[in-house]
Amino acid sequence: MQYIYAAAAILVSSIVAPVVTLIALQYVQISKVPCEIPWVDLRGKRWFPKLRANMHQFSIGRAALEEGWVKYGKHNKPFVLPGTNWPEIVLPPSNVHWIATQPEHIISDIVVQDELLGIDYFTHGPTSASVHDFTPIRRDMTRQMGKVLPDVLDEISASFTEGFGTNTEDWQEVLAIEKVISTAHRAVNRVYVGLPSCRDQRYLTAAFRWEFSFAVTGAVFRQLIPHELKPLFGPIAAMPLACIKWLAIRRILPTIRERVRKLKADGISEKTSSDDEKPNDMLQWIIETNAQKSDPAELEPWNVAGKVLLLDLFATHTTSTTAGAALLDMLSYPTAAQLLAELREEADAVMPKLVSDPQAIRDMVKMDSTIRETLRLHPMFAHGMMRQVVARGGVTTPDGLYLPQGCNVSASIVYPQMESCDNGQEYQPLRFYHQANGPANPPPSMAATAEGIVDHQQTPQTAPTKQTMTVQISDQFLSFGLGKHACPGRFFAVQTLKLMLGYLVTHYDLEPLAERPKFDEIGEIRIPSAKTVLKVRRREMELTEGDNGK
Ligand code: HEM
Ligand SMILES: *[C@@H]1O[C@H](CO)[C@@H](O)[C@H](O)[C@H]1NC(C)=O
Repeated sequence: MQYIYAAAAILVSSIVAPVVTLIALQYVQISKVPCEIPWVDLRGKRWFPKLRANMHQFSIGRAALEEGWVKYGKHNKPFVLPGTNWPEIVLPPSNVHWIATQPEHIISDIVVQDELLGIDYFTHGPTSASVHDFTPIRRDMTRQMGKVLPDVLDEISASFTEGFGTNTEDWQEVLAIEKVISTAHRAVNRVYVGLPSCRDQRYLTAAFRWEFSFAVTGAVFRQLIPHELKPLFGPIAAMPLACIKWLAIRRILPTIRERVRKLKADGISEKTSSDDEKPNDMLQWIIETNAQKSDPAELEPWNVAGKVLLLDLFATHTTSTTAGAALLDMLSYPTAAQLLAELREEADAVMPKLVSDPQAIRDMVKMDSTIRETLRLHPMFAHGMMRQVVARGGVTTPDGLYLPQGCNVSASIVYPQMESCDNGQEYQPLRFYHQANGPANPPPSMAATAEGIVDHQQTPQTAPTKQTMTVQISDQFLSFGLGKHACPGRFFAVQTLKLMLGYLVTHYDLEPLAERPKFDEIGEIRIPSAKTVLKVRRREMELTEGDNGK
């Protein structure tokens, strides 16, 4: 009998203890927020409104952010956005430039990243500084983009050909978003680890499994473990994660060991092997960056591989989400057929040139406009620019709002972007293209040429201005962030997005959709559902090399 009581007591306490801890920790967070700033999503005043608001954010989508925008942000006032991580002070749009330009010792991005990634326990070693070192992206990847383009295109071609099929006779139903995700994953890994690992399904699946477990472990750890106990529980929570990581990286560890061995044999500074023979991929860029550092642990294969996985997490999900969202936006546009024809015409002209002239990708200006419009209106995150006030004694915003040390600030992204241009709520894929090249439908009197044909490109009504390209960030366009920590992967991301979408419109007929499919929501995050089915048919065309068609 005692055993039953004991078992019951253990069972009950194992449920009650985490709940009590969760609630207690939430109250600690709530108590630290300056009380003069209004909260959103407080429904009624009784029954722990702030605690409930925090918990709500999992299920409420973007409603709290929208409420904050309508009531405060739009009128240039700050508000508190509840959340289980911590409540955030969402500063108004006029403060974005200020956030972006504050030095790290006043408001810090690194502290927030450390917290969100669980850097002390769950990422790779040897130090937090090496986790934050994005040189291989910032410098090497951006520099090598043109060189790696043919490989990326080859990977995209092989992956879509497998996933969307080669049937030119009949329309096929495909799980299009699932294929977009696996194609983005392969394209990224073609540059990260190269062939054959980028097609090794077991590697790819294991990498995704680690990324998922990493996100879940981090979230649970953040919300259930009090600060003081983290050093105790961190290493315990890290153990299963390390096993999951090993299952993925064991497939690339031999390559890394070999590369490190070779680099050491060649001598780190001298270049004995000619640059052309050297592998040109993320693994190599990481190894060479780390070789410049004094700590030998920087070259431990486990650390190099851990970085590859972390950077895969940063790159793949953002790229696949944007590609999927852009595709579904295009197909559910009321005049989708016409849009697809225009994008196809452009891609047909540019894509065949790319292998010999990667720079020509700049001419995909209509596709660029389409991608930017999706990122403007339907970004994965509705808010961003998360930073923490670290200055002793706090800091005062340009509006005179005093923020004590420890406050977490952020900014709305999607709502101000909806109002950043004329008819901003509307999805107009060629918006940025037309802004530069003249209006889509100029008044008939001005547009009609002698033959009655409208030719906007050659006869713009106003002198053509330079098109605002997707990689151009500003305080009006925050989907890649702003300032020193703005996304360093955006150049590669946009190139890859153009290749993916360009490949699809040139190689497939895609059936337009009656309406935009429902996206999956995790809190404010919106991702196209992997279950989305599209109807596609391979277009009749000569197969060029790299098409891998059967
Ligand atoms: C369409 C795709 C992408 C979107 C929308 C996106 C968006 C973002 C955003 C919003 C930030 C935070 C900026 C800030 O806090 O100010 C960020 C940071 C970052 N992104 Fe991206 N990203 C994308 C693709 C990529 C890719 C492909 C890579 C890697 C190759 C990458 C690597 C990074 C890294 C390393 C950071 C942290 C930079 C730092 O803290 O200094 N991203 N990204
Ligand atoms: C800000 O975030 C940190 C975690 O990075 C948290 O410990 C702290 O309590 C938060 N501050 C406030 C005022 O909520």
